[in-house]
Amino acid sequence: MPVYHPPRIPSSEITPRGVYLSRRNFLGTAAGLAAVGLTGHGALAAPLTAKPGAYKLDEPLTPLDAVTSYNNFYEFGTGKSDPKENAGKFKPTPWTIRVDGLVGKPQEFNIEDLLKYPLEDRTYRMRCVEGWSMVIPWIGFPLSALLDKVEPLGSAKFVSFETVVRPEEMSGQTGLFQALDWPYVEGLRLDEARHPLTILAVGLYGETLPNQNGAPIRLVVPWKYGFKGIKSIVRISLVEKQPETTWKNSNAREYGFYSNVNPKVDHPRWSQATEQRIGEGGFFSTQRRPTLMYNGYDEVASLYTGMDLKANY
Ligand code: MTE
Repeated sequence: MPVYHPPRIPSSEITPRGVYLSRRNFLGTAAGLAAVGLTGHGALAAPLTAKPGAYKLDEPLTPLDAVTSYNNFYEFGTGKSDPKENAGKFKPTPWTIRVDGLVGKPQEFNIEDLLKYPLEDRTYRMRCVEGWSMVIPWIGFPLSALLDKVEPLGSAKFVSFETVVRPEEMSGQTGLFQALDWPYVEGLRLDEARHPLTILAVGLYGETLPNQNGAPIRLVVPWKYGFKGIKSIVRISLVEKQPETTWKNSNAREYGFYSNVNPKVDHPRWSQATEQRIGEGGFFSTQRRPTLMYNGYDEVASLYTGMDLKANY
């Protein structure tokens, strides 16, 4: 995230919320799927059924086209449109995730099995550290459900995550200039990982995840800056010490391990007090809204009691 580029998404290119909401009513029937042509934005978009979750927002959804065409996924390039343009040949199936480390029952999980977990609709705000935000209707399940299966040991204090490395399918992992060191790695404290808001997402807008959004499975931690939401995960390890994280390794002064959304702690090169909601205000909009502490998810505050939030950004 070297510089902040103000988003430029013409409102003509985005799907209005009403279209999504009425389309959603079709999902689940073959006829409905054919009627709405559901393969438009992802290689393997397939409908997912999820029960309505308790996590809803009284804010307009960011249109589907914006969610799937304005992305950060440096394995496919550093431009916002690169992931959608370059992720076509990425193969999200077959897929397994290894969950290991300080656990009683290390295991490999197939994505097909994970899709059978009770899935929930979770509409969350997403705030990128660069100063833009979205409201995304994810489908997923709590990370804690997966952690329970492997039985973490008492010595486990942190959880580390790793993205797949596939230069043959990921153009940003080839060539002389590599934007980051691969694999992309991320981490959470175990209590953050177990918090009910923390999910593994397998879909959005009623379908499986498009490649550019982290197919087939990615992390979503809505009170943290978006880069904590590691995509296309192949390994999750329970560990004792705070794990390495890609952006901290790249620039520790600018990207901390915790990276909780905090309007009072500025990035060294820009203010974090406000944000631009993608799609709001239309093309060339400079309209900004105030950024909320913990991105509005105040229920996580107790996780950080006694911590110096400035020093531990
Ligand atoms: N995960 C991987 N593997 N590679 C990345 O480059 N970018 C991160 C995060 N997860 C990234 C990643 C950043 S900076 C953000 S803001 C979010 O993904 C963006 O998610 P989205 O493109 O689905 O909106």
